[in-house]
Order: sequence, then C-alpha cells, then structure tokens
Amino acid sequence: MDAETFLLCLSEGLEPWEAVAARARLSVDRARLFARALGEAGYPVLLEESGVGLAPDSLAPQHVLPRLRGRFGRPYRYLGTVTSTQDVLRAWHEAPEGALVVAEHQTRGRGRLGRPWLSSPGNLCFSLLLRRPQPPLLPLRVGVALAQAAGFGLLKWPNDLLSPDGRKLGGILIECEGGRTFVGVGVNVVQAPLPTAAALKEFRAVNRVDLLVAFLSLLEEWLAPPSSVVLQAWQEWDGTLGREVRVHTPTGVVEGVAEAINQEGALLVRTNAGRKSVRVGEVVLPPPPNVVEAQEGQGQAQGRGASEG
Ligand code: BTN
Repeated sequence: MDAETFLLCLSEGLEPWEAVAARARLSVDRARLFARALGEAGYPVLLEESGVGLAPDSLAPQHVLPRLRGRFGRPYRYLGTVTSTQDVLRAWHEAPEGALVVAEHQTRGRGRLGRPWLSSPGNLCFSLLLRRPQPPLLPLRVGVALAQAAGFGLLKWPNDLLSPDGRKLGGILIECEGGRTFVGVGVNVVQAPLPTAAALKEFRAVNRVDLLVAFLSLLEEWLAPPSSVVLQAWQEWDGTLGREVRVHTPTGVVEGVAEAINQEGALLVRTNAGRKSVRVGEVVLPPPPNVVEAQEGQGQAQGRGASEG
C-alpha cells in the first residue's frame, strides 16, 4: 500500500486510529505514517491523537466517483500540492478524454494571459482533458457550464464568473497541445484570495463535490449544441453586454460599449471609431463601489490593477 491508497480508507471526520488501521489492514503505527505523509503532501487530513480522517467537503475519489453522472471525471486524480493541475494533466500523456486532475493547492497556478491564479484552501482547482476537435465557442461553453453548475453569478466575456458586485468568483483557462485540450477551472468556493475577488460561500451554501460533479456533466452536455444555442445560454448569465468596457488586447486597448458576441466568440465593441471585433483580450468593467485597488499581477483582480493587461 502507498499513501494514496491509504487515503481511500479515510472517511470525512475523525475515526479512531484502530478502526482506520483495521480497514487498511495496517498497524496503527504504519497508518500514522501514511496519514502524516498525506498531510505533508497537501491533502486535507485531520490528524488527532484520538483519530484520523478527511476534512469536510473532501474531493477524495471515494466521495466524487460515485456521484459522477457522465463520462467526464474518469480517470480521476486527486492530489494535494502541485505546481498547476494544467501541468499535471499535460504530463499525463496516456490520459483519455474526460480525465480529471484535482488539486488542493497549486504553487504555480496560472490564469489567462500569463497571469498567476491564487487559490485558498477549500477552493476548487481542476483540469479536464478533451481529446476531440475543439467545438466552436469552447470558452463560452465552459463558462455556461460553470455558471449553471454554480447556479449563481454573471459571466464576463469570455468566461470569467463574477459576483453581482463584479468580484471574481471563478476563472477558466483553456490550453491546447497536439490534439489535447486542457480545460482548467478555478473557483473561489470558501475563500477569496484577494480583496478584489469573492467566494461563492458569501452568497450561497456550496459544496465542492456538488459543484464539481454538476460542472462535469453540464460541460459534457454543453459540448454538443450549435453555436446559436450556446450564445443564447451565455446571454442568460451575461454581465458584459450593454456595458462600457475597456478591453486590453494584444494590440492595444479598445474602449466602448460591449454590444454583442459573434458566432466566432469575438466581442463586438462600439467605439468612437466604429465597431471593433475583439478575439482575445481582458475586459475591464467599470469598478464597482468599495472595490479595493487590485494588487500588482494578481490573476484574479477585477479592479484597476495590473491584471487589466
Ligand atoms: C483566469 O481567470 O485567468 C483563469 C484561471 C484558471 C485557474 C485554473 S485553477 C486550475 C487550473 N490550473 C491552473 O494553473 N489554472 C487553472
């Protein structure tokens, strides 16, 4: 047995060491060693003199796999601390479509446009593998699935999930390599890692396992419909269209009113110089009141900080 197999013998909450050791067919001393190793690897293990177990709302396979409704999420790799779930999935060469990497902590989580992604304990960080030709509007499809799974929030083009007051609740990073697409999702479930971000828990009771399994089955469904249906669904969660925006693009800043999203997923902005189509960029909405200035280089910032670039 190794520590990751021992993890499968743990339940949520404390159980006496003797009970867990018997289930794992180990001595209590050996069970203590494995439990300590799991804690050191970043898993949320409760370790007390009286017993051992997993912290509540655990993403351990024994709690997630029985709840999966579709094909996405299998095979499932649940890890403690990693650099980035995107890196782990990319290095997992033989992984099939639907493979999922979930981690409790990322030391080098990344966001769109080269920004870092910060996360706090208890939040959700995962990467899903697609091995199919990318459907059109993939970022929007993923955004709709996330908003529906959360059942809350507004989408900022192309796929950020925001709270009604404009703070970031979740982000999506889509990377591709040789026919593989890595869909990375980060959601602030219990804690906002920055003053300019928000956590879902501020607004509604939320459980990571519910959110994860709902997202996976919704995304599987949302990969099929035609673009027109996706655009319509996106608009139901839209927090961008009709608003004054500043969009930082690789070729400069576009300012005006966000009017529409076209069939290619580009944002159409009415500017003083006419209508411009933006394919890649970061939208900055007018900062909501009481939003503290964003910190330099934080991937989650929504205010007037460096993340706008
Ligand atoms: C963004 O808003 O810019 C996208 C953020 C994406 C963060 C997730 S967390 C899981 C996955 N691993 C990463 O390093 N990034 C994505």
